[in-house]
Amino acid sequence: MHITKMSAVRASQAANCRSMEGTKEEFLRQFGNDYDYRDAPKNIDNIRSTEFKRLEGIVYLDHAGATLYSEAQMEAVFRDLSTRILGNPHSQSDSSKATTDIINEARRQVLSYFNASPKDYKCVFTSGATGALKLVGETFPWTKESCYMYTVENHNSVIGIREYALDHGAAALAVDIEDVDFFRGMKPSIQIKKRSLQRREKAVASREVPNCEGNNHNLFAFPSECNFSGIKFPLELVNIVKEYSGKGIGDSFNDRGSWLVLIDAAKGCATEPPDLSRYPADFVVCSFYKAHPSSMGATITFNLKRSNGSWFGYKEVEQLASLSSIQLRTGCFCNPGACAKFLELTHMDILSNLEGFFHNKVKLVQKLRSVCGKGIYLLW
Ligand SMILES: Cc1ncc(COP(=O)(O)O)c(C=O)c1O
Repeated sequence: MHITKMSAVRASQAANCRSMEGTKEEFLRQFGNDYDYRDAPKNIDNIRSTEFKRLEGIVYLDHAGATLYSEAQMEAVFRDLSTRILGNPHSQSDSSKATTDIINEARRQVLSYFNASPKDYKCVFTSGATGALKLVGETFPWTKESCYMYTVENHNSVIGIREYALDHGAAALAVDIEDVDFFRGMKPSIQIKKRSLQRREKAVASREVPNCEGNNHNLFAFPSECNFSGIKFPLELVNIVKEYSGKGIGDSFNDRGSWLVLIDAAKGCATEPPDLSRYPADFVVCSFYKAHPSSMGATITFNLKRSNGSWFGYKEVEQLASLSSIQLRTGCFCNPGACAKFLELTHMDILSNLEGFFHNKVKLVQKLRSVCGKGIYLLW
């Protein structure tokens, strides 16, 4: 246990404030033209001092993971809940209808945020992006001819859909999207590098749905923005994958039938929600607690390198930042593919780490130390 007197904490925050002022002046000299919400009614300093008073002396950089609510939001929610009667939405009473109206309005706003026509899309509320992805995995019409294809850079909960596909005898395939021109916005084309095709010998829950020729469904999943590297994937992928339906994407497997596309917008939609009228994905998942419209702003992903090119381990960055009252979210194993790709970990490195955690830890730490330096806390 660690006990610190509040007066000492406040003194240290005041000292941080003073040292931040100098740093801020320097920052504004360099980046002032690109900083702040220029056309908004309130600027950042104003928002901080009126809506986020509790942030004084603190730099909070985890809006992507745990967005802070503003004081005005809390007051509005409190006022609403303490003055209205909101009943069960499935009845006919006034209190019930009041709830139904709120839910319908919320659905309308969500669809409009994604420029999605209510004729084509339905909004389903779940506990978070993971809950939504689980729902897709559980209800997707997998057959033995289906394929679940997903980019290597993906959150664990997108990768988890693989288990539902494999359980039903479908194939699963991780891919790298490699066409560099594609990322520079040139003529769209798809260059994929396949990893090995996965199939479960004995499907646990072979579905009784007969697969009619040409009526097979495959699923392709990618993040609109990678939560590890910050790379924004081109949304044009939706149209390209759909266009390739039935033609064998990259000749990678016998993918008869049509392709449905899932965008994980949990990270990306805070700053750039996918426009579904241009990129008609079949499923889009997002997290409201990461992307509350009134608290958009700091969504930053970064990794730090030393001048000699080696990586800083994230614990080291976190500890030093914390000493200056900078609050970060660190780690990478919720996106194991991106983690392995960028840190050059092999499949065997990961497997040996998971299979014999304590036994092999020393070996893996040695490898990571050569990649990242000494403050190594990359995987756990
Ligand atoms: C890209 C991405 N997808 C999915 C998730 C899971 O979201 P949730 O916490 O809403 O289940 C996260 C969580 O950080 C994420 O960054």
